Amino acid sequence: MRIIESVSGMQSAADEFRASGRKIGLVPTMGYLHEGHLELMRTAAEQTDVVVTSIFVNPTQFGPGEDLERYPRDFDGDVRKAGGVGVGVIFAPTAEEMYPSGFQTRVRVERVTRHLCGLSRPVHFEGVTTVVCKLFHCVKPDVAVFGEKDFQQLVVIERMVTDLNMDIRIVGVPVQREPDGLAMSSRNAYLSPDERRSALSLFKSLELAKRLYKDGERSARMIRTAVLELISSHPFTSVDYVELCDSGSLESVEFLEGKTLLALAVNVGRTRLIDNCTLGS
Ligand code: PAF
Repeated sequence: MRIIESVSGMQSAADEFRASGRKIGLVPTMGYLHEGHLELMRTAAEQTDVVVTSIFVNPTQFGPGEDLERYPRDFDGDVRKAGGVGVGVIFAPTAEEMYPSGFQTRVRVERVTRHLCGLSRPVHFEGVTTVVCKLFHCVKPDVAVFGEKDFQQLVVIERMVTDLNMDIRIVGVPVQREPDGLAMSSRNAYLSPDERRSALSLFKSLELAKRLYKDGERSARMIRTAVLELISSHPFTSVDYVELCDSGSLESVEFLEGKTLLALAVNVGRTRLIDNCTLGS
């Protein structure tokens, strides 16, 4: 396992891998790795010859008052976990290395960023696409793997890759869950035991929506109301959004026809959690 901190070091290593005919798989992360991340790395390892994981808590995707300073970090633990699933390189640049003085470029995807998390986190996706674009130029991957828990992020990155003709295959991996159904997230570490119990309302509400859909309910308003009621009946929860939308454009729908995304963002105490599922096919 190699740990590389400089952009030039990472680019040289990528050139070496490519020159020897090895396919590169990239798993971008902000660290504090959990089983969900490890599944992304296993997927990358199945499809490529060398897996690079980036660990970088990207300041440009956090808005004022968000959790940049308290974002959990455990670099030594991350190195151990990534090594255990066959990661060959950890790319761990500093903020100064990624955003040296004079930096002034942004990558912005337009329409699909205007819904869901884009409404309450106005600078978030511009920060994500800018850093992911930079990571692509540093690591030069053939394949990049992202989790479907951040469904909108995946849609936004696929859009960027298509629109900017990036020769990279984007792979999405289904949401990984704890045994009781809570979606795995580094931010789960913030939850107190009582909040952790209330956080299960996200998963329970997705299951409720699936049951309603199976029983023939096709009104987005009815499903949304049932989901809102279930979540709001749990203490510490405050809903940011519950949306039923087209899984490609992310535009809201009134009636469910074809594949519909049910996406949730809920504050549980001070912790903002997201989750989603698709209804229909
Ligand atoms: O999903 C994340 O952890 C981040 O948004 C990413 C893709 C690593 C960019 O900082």
